[in-house]
Amino acid sequence: MSTLGIIVAMREELEIVLERLQAPQTIQRAGMSFHRGSYLGKPVVAVVCGVGKVNAAACTQMLISEFSVGSIINIGIAGAVEPNIRPGDIVIADTLVQHDVELKALGLAPGQVFRLDTFDFPADPALLAIAQTAAQQIEGHRVHTGRIVTGDQFIACNDKIQWLSTTFDAIACEMESGAIAQVCYLNTVPFVCIRSISDNANNEAHMDFDTFLPIAVSNASTLLHAMVPSC
Ligand code: ADE
Repeated sequence: MSTLGIIVAMREELEIVLERLQAPQTIQRAGMSFHRGSYLGKPVVAVVCGVGKVNAAACTQMLISEFSVGSIINIGIAGAVEPNIRPGDIVIADTLVQHDVELKALGLAPGQVFRLDTFDFPADPALLAIAQTAAQQIEGHRVHTGRIVTGDQFIACNDKIQWLSTTFDAIACEMESGAIAQVCYLNTVPFVCIRSISDNANNEAHMDFDTFLPIAVSNASTLLHAMVPSC
């Protein structure tokens, strides 16, 4: 049975996994703690990658090269870009783009990585279907599937979300999954990203962690519990 890599943004989101991990082992690499064991009968390596694309990319390559994971799921939080999406909603990425990649001077479209044979990074179709089924189990939250965009910026600006919407047709923004997706693409490892919306990414965007954390943790727990046995 292949090992599943689980990347989360916040330590609290891992608690449910760590509490139930059988034969747990923690291995330190690149300043991160990789928790290996069996969760709901599935071999997993679960890790908090920290914020931003470099942390996310280092973590992903470590999962693939050192821990030989066969697939990766990423769970966390995101800001809404699509006006119809509200805090508390769930977004699932069908494709991912890094909005802060900019080589216009070389004639490339915003987001296009230099000399890569793809513009966006698609989620694995089987994992995407598993995520969509799992998300239906979170009661009282709407679920949206579409493009999530990633950059090393916390977006808190109306003009910027308008640009993300018109340029990329994005539904949500965050700071890690596009980098995870690129590393998975380069290694041909299946990947999916599911995020809970924490803010509207607009001029009033602020992170009320005390209010939002229990929602994010509860959503992550439900999603992992529902997804892992099928991954
Ligand atoms: N993660 C959660 N909210 C975000 C935002 N507004 N911008 C970037 N990443 C986020």
